[in-house]
Amino acid sequence: MKRDFKFWMILLAFSLPVCAALFIGTIYFSNCGLNADCSRGFLAPVIHTPIPTLFPATLPAPALSVLIPPTLTPAATDASSGDEVPEPSIPGLPGAAINLKGDATSGAALFKTNCATCHGQQGIGGVPNPGSSDGTVPSLNPIDPLLKNPDPKVFASNIDLFIQHGSVPEGPSPFRTMPGWGDTNEITQQQIADVIAYVISLNK
Ligand code: HEC
Repeated sequence: MKRDFKFWMILLAFSLPVCAALFIGTIYFSNCGLNADCSRGFLAPVIHTPIPTLFPATLPAPALSVLIPPTLTPAATDASSGDEVPEPSIPGLPGAAINLKGDATSGAALFKTNCATCHGQQGIGGVPNPGSSDGTVPSLNPIDPLLKNPDPKVFASNIDLFIQHGSVPEGPSPFRTMPGWGDTNEITQQQIADVIAYVISLNK
């Protein structure tokens, strides 16, 4: 009997720490799983929800791009419409004038007779154009920088399209519209080449 009692006491003494270790271990794994990180805290209740919750905090933050349409970003504006060369409202190809050598002096005289009423003396602009969005006929001296080009051939072609085919400015009812001098044969292709040379000379 004496030995039996001693035996059980020794067994109990050894098994207590083992039981304690198992107990702590069980609690640890039930809270933290196999993750070494138990950041939720020891004994913190674990809520497993198979259905995604509808708490606002768990929803993804609304993307900024939804609030600001991509087309309105400054970069997109610059790339799409900002740098486009203006074209007349009446479409068409460049005329024969762009392959002729223009004389700016003859062009100056032609401009005085045919163009100055709308574009002003020496093309300085300021002529009112009621019913158009701009309110005035565009100045050709200086000309819209988007029509300008370091390559005289390209510059001539940009201006030529307006002179050949004409253009109706934007607005509800523009009082003055750009006539299509080439399409109506109002002036010859050589005269158009001359007037183009003159307009380019005004913008040197
Ligand atoms: C009856 C008025 C009128 C006369 C005459 C006229 N223009 Fe114009 N012109 C305009 C108007 C209005 C515009 C603007 C068109 C637009 O915005 O689409 C314009 C546009 C232009 C442009 C394009 C400028 C720009 O910034 O868009 C050129 C180049 C031009 N004219 C050259 C001439 C030349 C050269 C002559 C003479 C041969 C001439 N115009 C005679 C009214 C006139």
